[in-house]
Amino acid sequence: MLSETVDEMGLEAYIVGGYVRDMILERPSKDVDVVVVSNVEFMEKTGKANPGIELAMAFTKRLGKGAHCSYFKNFGTAQVKWHGEEVEFVGARKESYTRDSRKPIVEDGTLDDDQKRRDFTINAMALCLNASRFGELVDPFDGIYDLEDGIISTPLDPDITFSDDPLRMMRCVRFATQLKFTIEEETFAALERNKERIKIISQERIIDELNKIMKAPNPSIGFVELQRCGLLELILPEVSALDIVEERNGRKHKNNFYHTLEVLDNVAKNSDNLWLRWGALLHDIGKPKSKRWDPLVGWTFHNHNYLGMRMVKPLFHRMKLPLDERLKYVEKLVDLHMRPINIADEEVTDSAVRRLLFEAGDDIDDLMLLCEADITSKNEQRKRGFRENYQLVRQKLVDIEEKDRIRNFQPPVDGDEIMQIFGLTPCKEVGILKTALKDAILDGEVPNDHEPALSFIMEKAKTMGLEVK
Ligand code: CTP
Repeated sequence: MLSETVDEMGLEAYIVGGYVRDMILERPSKDVDVVVVSNVEFMEKTGKANPGIELAMAFTKRLGKGAHCSYFKNFGTAQVKWHGEEVEFVGARKESYTRDSRKPIVEDGTLDDDQKRRDFTINAMALCLNASRFGELVDPFDGIYDLEDGIISTPLDPDITFSDDPLRMMRCVRFATQLKFTIEEETFAALERNKERIKIISQERIIDELNKIMKAPNPSIGFVELQRCGLLELILPEVSALDIVEERNGRKHKNNFYHTLEVLDNVAKNSDNLWLRWGALLHDIGKPKSKRWDPLVGWTFHNHNYLGMRMVKPLFHRMKLPLDERLKYVEKLVDLHMRPINIADEEVTDSAVRRLLFEAGDDIDDLMLLCEADITSKNEQRKRGFRENYQLVRQKLVDIEEKDRIRNFQPPVDGDEIMQIFGLTPCKEVGILKTALKDAILDGEVPNDHEPALSFIMEKAKTMGLEVK
């Protein structure tokens, strides 16, 4: 139907960009982008300067009921929505740069001009919509061969493509990650040369690409490339700084960057949860700050979980990541990621498991996934040992939850009741009693029920000189 409309109006139009790429790769296709080539005859006959908008309006009319067209005259673009499908229309454009200004002058152009100003050869292929050449692939930059060979490269000199829109550097790494493609050598060298230009791009656009890398089946591919070209140091210095191995007296510590990426891929294998993946990416960012050399035991990273947790909020703030419960969740994962291993390392006591359940709450299963993903030892025997201990922790978690219902722990005697019994207004004593009760229940000294909890409060209050009112 679109093809007929194009011919009837005497226009020349092509499907371009991501849709063509995904169709050839047999990936699920998304929105369709259509480029309409400007045509003198059409403009003279109709007196209209925006063939993209004209085609979109005619197509909408033809689709009839349920079709909706919106357009932006200033940009010469239009969008047609129909039963959840979306088609974007735009006139073919050419950009030229004057010598003394970085601001492009956008003017009408040919299909070739339009293809040249696209980011990658695999995104610059066009399929003709006119009936006489329907389905003909117009591919001046051999994008089809790059698709076959799994290569990301730019249609023009990569320095020009990347400086026109520096976000394309992130897109380059993102496509390499999603498609498991290799970045062509010259294109990669241009990433290294132009990396500083990423600073002019808004955080929102950067994070959008970074999250697409995070959601890929093997996010590590993207982080290795970002680190290799130097972009990671600019956008996520906390993670980039993990890429170091120090040696003293013949003892090396592991490279925590590659360890982190292994953990991230392990988590990605087992969960689609983007924020769990962020937790994996950031779980060790406290290590550089906490690193010490101890002549007796070697390298230590005491408290790296706590230091790391403290770094999450400023990082989320700077990167314009959400500052709501998703931040809290990532902080919690970073903070608690050593707990299950410490419990598994020693005797697995009820009290330690109860405290872990209390602090992790409903996120306990995600925390356990992260901790299991964190076992990256090359020593199979050690690995097996850890796994077995985790199994034990998991079993204990189930047993204790069944018995004590700690997961969404609400104290059986709360602050209001305490204030009522002793005729108090909010004060320090109420807090002391509440904490003492919580600790006693978590340590298994008092059952998690109202009666025994109340007796405990009475006893404790007596020692503090409080009287029942
Ligand atoms: N494009 C570009 N430079 C950009 C963004 C987009 O040249 N910075 C071009 C590419 O030809 C791209 C097309 O515009 O194929 C559509 O862009 P977009 O919808 O962002 O990307 P897709 O390629 O469709 O891929 P995805 O939907 O996965 O983002």
